[in-house]
Amino acid sequence: MSETVRYERRGDIAVITVDNPPVNALSSSVRQGLADSLAQALGDGAVKAMVLIGAGRTYIAGADIREFGKPFTGPGLQQIIADFERSSKPVVVAIHGTALGGGLEVALGCHYRVALPSAQLGLPEVKLGILPGAGGTQRMPRVIGIKAALDMITSGDPIPAAKAKEIGLVDAIIEGDLLEGAIKFAETVAIPGGTTGRRVSERSDKLGGADTAYFAEARKSVAAKARGQIAPVKIVDALEAAATLPFTDGMKKEREIATELMAGTQSKALRHVFFAEREAAKIPDVPADTPTRPVKSVAIIGAGTMGGGIAMNFANIGIPVTLIDSTEEFLERGLKRIKDNYAVTVSRGRLSQPDMDKRVGLIKGALDIDRIKDADLVIEAVFEEMALKKDIFGKIDQFAKPGAVLATNTSGLNINEIAAVTKRPQDVIGLHFFSPANVMRLMEVVRADKTGKDIIATSMQLGKTIRKVPVLARVYEGFIGNAMLRHYGREAHFLLEEGALPQQVDKALTDFGYAMGMFGVHDVAGNDVGYRMRKAAQATRPNDRRYSDIITKLCDMGRLGQKTGKGWYRYEPGSRTPIPDPEVEALIIQESKLKGIERRVITDEEIVKRCVYGPINEGANLLEKGIALRPSDIDTVYVTGYGFPSWRGGPMFYADTVGLANVLADIKRFHEKDGFFWKPAPLLEQLVKEGKTFADYQAAR
Ligand code: CAA
Repeated sequence: MSETVRYERRGDIAVITVDNPPVNALSSSVRQGLADSLAQALGDGAVKAMVLIGAGRTYIAGADIREFGKPFTGPGLQQIIADFERSSKPVVVAIHGTALGGGLEVALGCHYRVALPSAQLGLPEVKLGILPGAGGTQRMPRVIGIKAALDMITSGDPIPAAKAKEIGLVDAIIEGDLLEGAIKFAETVAIPGGTTGRRVSERSDKLGGADTAYFAEARKSVAAKARGQIAPVKIVDALEAAATLPFTDGMKKEREIATELMAGTQSKALRHVFFAEREAAKIPDVPADTPTRPVKSVAIIGAGTMGGGIAMNFANIGIPVTLIDSTEEFLERGLKRIKDNYAVTVSRGRLSQPDMDKRVGLIKGALDIDRIKDADLVIEAVFEEMALKKDIFGKIDQFAKPGAVLATNTSGLNINEIAAVTKRPQDVIGLHFFSPANVMRLMEVVRADKTGKDIIATSMQLGKTIRKVPVLARVYEGFIGNAMLRHYGREAHFLLEEGALPQQVDKALTDFGYAMGMFGVHDVAGNDVGYRMRKAAQATRPNDRRYSDIITKLCDMGRLGQKTGKGWYRYEPGSRTPIPDPEVEALIIQESKLKGIERRVITDEEIVKRCVYGPINEGANLLEKGIALRPSDIDTVYVTGYGFPSWRGGPMFYADTVGLANVLADIKRFHEKDGFFWKPAPLLEQLVKEGKTFADYQAAR
């Protein structure tokens, strides 16, 4: 028998247990084990029905993604599922944890599905740039209908067991012991004809209600949301095949599309993103067994947008937070903002009122900094100014209890300097959240020179606990993300002076796949972010490089962004739709004149290259300086924190797909023109010389 699948008899029920930690992925040995177990149960006259279950933390969470793109071994999943479905003895699938991808497809091929209330069921393949290729696109609509299947498969989002029961995907919810419940259930269906009417491929009763016009409309709306990603649109094709073709022909169509998607760059990029996120958790000199400090209470200093957003992350998982600000007014405003944010989630049906009340109740306001004294973790989230941060850290050092983790949410200041004002620099770390902090998944964990390994381990673990993606960085101006962003922002602004307009730059970037263009982002964040610093720096600027002052002038005109109804664009009252504004165009043209730049036609290709290659070049510098541990960490930062299209894999992966020699050639061209900026990163030059990629660089380390 297979080493990853166990077979046993419980009376006249055969129990097949998949035991392939950590997530029971369908590796070749699991597939072999499933095929063998089915044969054994079918050959055993005493067995009347089967239960299929997962050992450990979850039922089967999908195909083994590590096997993708490698030579195929063992029996194919499609065949195994067909064999289970054809079985004359009913098979009951018992689901706990997450039934995902191929795991759920196996369940769809079986005759009954029962689940614990806490189970989640989904077909997340679209997130890997593929589709459920083992019958998911053909069987799911036969069980829950075309429209529900389209939502589930194009979004890739799992649904809870209760919802699955409601739409007919699950036959029964089991309270208490899952295996015992499933065996009892199996006994009730272990009767002659127990599989009659239960073979999903033979059903078509749910397939109605979706005509050609429906699919044409679905294709349009899915494509609009997908912003360049191919798989969601192809999934609509597969579902149309389910609705219009016999099952076997639909399966052929699914296979064709699956093969094409699997071989494409987008799927490779998305698989890279999946593993990159998980790789980021591994730190060579901080092994997985490094002791961590318990974090059962948190204090946050600064009740602004950032502090409030950070507080919500902890309240969401039941950790009490003391939110501290210097005046009653700031504090009240901060607490109200938190309530309003939760209320929006409640109004959208994504949170219940009692849950909101519980979370709001966990966040208590305070005016005195000494209230940090019981907190296991103190996070400073005040204005981005070194003198202020140092002052606050002096106080934190005075009041925080021994052993507390002391974190700053600075977005780029020197944390060594901040740590130096305390008597315990080993306890100081950067936890850089991204705005809105209750939504954005990225959390840069910044180790300063003296940060203790236990503090790093605690922070990385904590990031995962609050459902963020923690990525380790070292101290550097702007750490990883904002250091690279400087190069992106600079070029976007220069492009305006040279002939582009905000709407053209933004469109080129959103066509590339960015969630938003640079100027749209500015208008959301507020153009006055950094205004004081920019204004102060004007007097002392070195004259060996170029600057753009348009954003400062925009602020002087009161165009602060969406909050003032106008920024790089104008906005109708109550609307967030950016409308190009002649006043901004006039300002930009005036600025070109002032600088003696003759405006020219700028192509979208140039916009993308200048906005994306700058960060790539800086990314190579960050690797060489050891600020980022690996290229895939940089990709994770950019995909989870900066809206970089995940289906392009992140900037470093994207550079590999373009070819590093091509990227370098353009960087050199830009450098020749500019003189100061765009100095090619030595690591990039070296990799090109050796004919290597960033992936090679990472693999060799
Ligand atoms: N294949 C291979 N490895 C997998 C995997 C999979 N499907 N799912 C998770 N892993 C690995 C992770 O890489 C990680 O490995 P390391 O510890 O070495 O880094 C380990 O399992 C634990 O994973 P997480 O850290 O993500 O654990 P979690 O508890 O936070 O989440 C999970 C568990 C929800 C299952 C999450 O891992 C997940 O979403 N996995 C992907 C599920 C998926 O996409 N399934 C569809 C696969 S495609 C498919 O099935 C195609 C088809 O049609 C046949």
